[in-house]
This record gives sequence, C-alpha cells and structure tokens, in this order.
Amino acid sequence: MTKKYEIAVLPGDGTGPEVVDEGLKVLEAAAGKYDFQLNLSTYAIGGDHYLRTGEILPATIIDELSSKDAIFLGAIGHPDVKPGILEKGILLALRFSMDQYINLRPIKLYEGVATPLKDKTPADIDFVVVRENSEGLYVGAGGYLKKGTPDEVAIQESINTRKGVERCIRYAFEYCRKRNKRKKLTLCGKTNVLTFAFDLWERAFYEVAKEYPDITTDYAHVDATCMWMVKNPEWFDVIVTDNMFGDIITDLGAMIQGGMGVAAGGNINPEGVSMFEPIGGSAPKYTGKHVINPIAAILATQLLLETIGESAAGASVESAVKKALRDDIKNVAAGKMGYSTGEVGDLIVDYIKQGAGESR
Ligand code: IPM
Ligand code: MN
Repeated sequence: MTKKYEIAVLPGDGTGPEVVDEGLKVLEAAAGKYDFQLNLSTYAIGGDHYLRTGEILPATIIDELSSKDAIFLGAIGHPDVKPGILEKGILLALRFSMDQYINLRPIKLYEGVATPLKDKTPADIDFVVVRENSEGLYVGAGGYLKKGTPDEVAIQESINTRKGVERCIRYAFEYCRKRNKRKKLTLCGKTNVLTFAFDLWERAFYEVAKEYPDITTDYAHVDATCMWMVKNPEWFDVIVTDNMFGDIITDLGAMIQGGMGVAAGGNINPEGVSMFEPIGGSAPKYTGKHVINPIAAILATQLLLETIGESAAGASVESAVKKALRDDIKNVAAGKMGYSTGEVGDLIVDYIKQGAGESR
C-alpha cells in the first residue's frame, strides 16, 4: 500500500508563502517519484492573520498539528507587528508546545555557491549544528524589578535541566554516528565563565560520550567556535550547543555556507512531530517580487523527508539542488539568481524527475 503522510503547511508571512509553494512542488515531485502520498493541510497563521483577527496561535491549531507527520513552515515576522509577538507567540510557542527539543542546522557549502571565506571550498565547509531548542535563555524565565525607574533591574535566566541537556547531547552523538563522516562531536559552551550551566553540559557530555567510544569528542568555547568557523571550518563535523549560542553560531554558519538563500533548519522532536523551515525570515522587502531564493525552503523539505523516513526521496532533493547550484544558479542572493523563485522550483522538480546528479 502506498504510504500517506499528513503534512501541515504554515506559509506564514512575507516571502514565506512564495518559498513554501516551491517547497511543495518539490515535495510532490519527490512523492511521485518515490511512490508515497502527501495530504497537505494549510494553516493561515502569521502576522496578517494576527492583524486581522487578533489571534496568534489558537490551541485548536496546536492540537491539530500534534497529529501530523510533519510541519512545513515558511516564515514568521511582519513589519507592522512589534518584534517578539509573532516570534514568541508562534515560532517559539510551536517549538515549546510540541517539544521540538532539537534545532538541526546543516552548514554545507555546495559547489557553485560563493562563500565569503577566501580559499575555503565545499570540502572545508560541511558540518551540522545540533542546537538545544527547548531550554536555556529562551524559556522566558526572569522578570523586571522597578521597571521604568532609574533603579530598574531586568533578569533573564538560562534554564538548563539535566534531562533537557542530556537528551540533546544524546541526539547529537547518535546523529554524529549516523552521519558517519568524521565522527567528531564538538561541545560548544563557555565553561570558563558560565560555570554552572556549562558545567552541567560538560559533565553530561563526557558521561554520555562513554556510550559512544567510536565518536571523538572535542570542546570549544563559543567565542573560539566563532573564530574557528571562519578560520578552520573543516575542523567541525557535528557541534552541539545550547539554545542561545546555537542561534548565534548558526547565523554565522548560514553566512559561510553562502547566505540565507540556502540555509535550512529542522525543529525536531525525535519522538513526536517535527517542523522544518528555511531560516531566512520573512524578507518583507522582497515580498511578492518572486525573486527570493527558494533553495532554503527546498532544503528544508529534504530534512523533512529524511525525518519522516523517506531518505531516498530526501537524497534526490539534495542531488537536484546540488546540480542546480553547480550548473544553473550563478548567484544565490535574492534578485541575482538569473531565475525567478518559481523557475528555481521548476528546475529542481525537473532534476528530481530526471534523477539528476544522483550518483554524486
Ligand atoms: C531562529 C530565529 C528564531 C530564534 C527567532 C525568530 C525567534 O532566529 O530560528 O534561529 O531565535 O530561534
Ligand atoms: Mn536565529
């Protein structure tokens, strides 16, 4: 019997819907080729919906999403909505309520894509960041004292639980083993200053490491990690880190892999429902111009396919993207691709249908 997957689609704001359309074209092409079916349900949440209705993320939608096989998200963020409302109310609320405790961010430079790092090639830039996605500074713990007065105090606490840290570290070891590249896992922390939080991380890391004698362990402070990501990115295979450091280093990662046009991420609950997104945001200034690069959204569908168990289909998406980046798209930046958003999607679909680049 043909397998059928229930996929929730959240196009969101700005250029989100444009890139999601191309991702969906690609998902359908992969489904056709690898003989499975997709049942898509679209949810119109985001800035426009909020401005129209005052509604951010109704509990009924969270309930419905909980029964899906995966979620495909475009972008959240609207120029007319105060920063924080939609990010916290939708994106972070989804991550937390669905316990998507891993944020998986591949940092991979594809052939034909320009990196700002002089002399670095695709052989040098190929690693994955496993970012803790449910704790740390993101939980919203803290508060104000004497707000608005000269004596104001603002406290924002980083919450790190043994359980939360350990499950993230374990995922990273498993991922590193499955990836089977350099089999090296780097803990990125700040043990010289954050001596409580990263002491817990460090102890958990080396305890779990005992179960993975085939994986080489390594440690780097977050500031040094930034330095090495620019100077010697080839040192990294898999990096595991907390939520805030992960947020920061993955934007640096996106830049060295060629920019937001090619950067995808997965919010993963290994035991539940995961959500995949291009990480570039809603890009209001490009909205409706059909010049935004959909490759990031398309690579998010690769992660989605791999996570639901359709690995061959996922690999075919990546092969098609590789070929298009190498042979066709000369610049990955919005408006400079030489193709419209829709044409890039069509190109990838054609390559998937042809099985292009699959032996590479
Ligand atoms: C990301 C984003 C989000 C984050 C924002 C939009 C809340 O920057 O996915 O990296 O900080 O996690
Ligand atoms: Mn970020």
